[in-house]
Amino acid sequence: MRLALLEVADLVVHYGKALALDGVSLSVAAGELVAVLGPNGAGKSTLLKAISRAVPSAGHIVFDGRPLDDMAPHLVVAAGICHCPEGRHLFAELTVRKNLELGAYLRRDKAAIARDLEHVHALFPVLRARGAQQAATLSGGEQQMVAIGRALMGRPKLLLLDEPSVGIAHRLKIAIFAAIRQIREAGTAILLVEQDARSALGVASRAYLLEHGQIVREGLSEAFIRDDRVRRVYLGV
Ligand SMILES: Nc1ncnc2c1ncn2[C@@H]1O[C@H](COP(=O)(O)OP(=O)(O)O)[C@@H](O)[C@H]1O
Ligand SMILES: [Mg+2]
Repeated sequence: MRLALLEVADLVVHYGKALALDGVSLSVAAGELVAVLGPNGAGKSTLLKAISRAVPSAGHIVFDGRPLDDMAPHLVVAAGICHCPEGRHLFAELTVRKNLELGAYLRRDKAAIARDLEHVHALFPVLRARGAQQAATLSGGEQQMVAIGRALMGRPKLLLLDEPSVGIAHRLKIAIFAAIRQIREAGTAILLVEQDARSALGVASRAYLLEHGQIVREGLSEAFIRDDRVRRVYLGV
């Protein structure tokens, strides 16, 4: 058993009086790709926001041996967690290139930053071609590539990906899942939140099912694909 890179235990998040996460526990090992599936409103985005300390929570989050509970969000990035949020949140008026460079805002290692930009361009060649274009002028799928690329420019040990395939064309979705696979193969651990269970289980080694703020199933992706309820509700077969 490998020591977990990320260990979340009994995580509870409230929005006012509403309970969004109700005692969530999960782990991600170094270099592992883990999926979190679940319907709209289950608490998937809240889980990623709590890990990156964008929302307050009770419970325990330990990353790389350090507790994150009281850490400021920028220190979480410095510790090695980069969050690619739902809805992308690009700087619409800035160029693609500038958006990518902003992902490295905490870094001073210029040569390594240049190498990482090369790596992002190799992963998503269209971003090199469109480097001087305003981010707002890109298609939804291309903007998602910028958002993932920007998160990679922070050199994460753990990448948090929130619904990378929502609302984008099929061809670009395939390219994005191929890139997610490559990012993992290069050694970066990924916690992937997805509505498209089939695509997520195709790249993840393990998965958790989140419903109403609680983990109701967990296991290997192969077991998820065979699970009757997962098949009926989330795979539509
Ligand atoms: N900022 C917020 N204020 C109040 N309620 C919120 C807020 N963000 C999310 N919620 C609620 O918390 C629950 C979980 O939301 P979310 O984490 O976005 O779910 P998911 O990403 O699985 O669709 C939902 O009931 C949602 O309406
Ligand atoms: Mg969400």
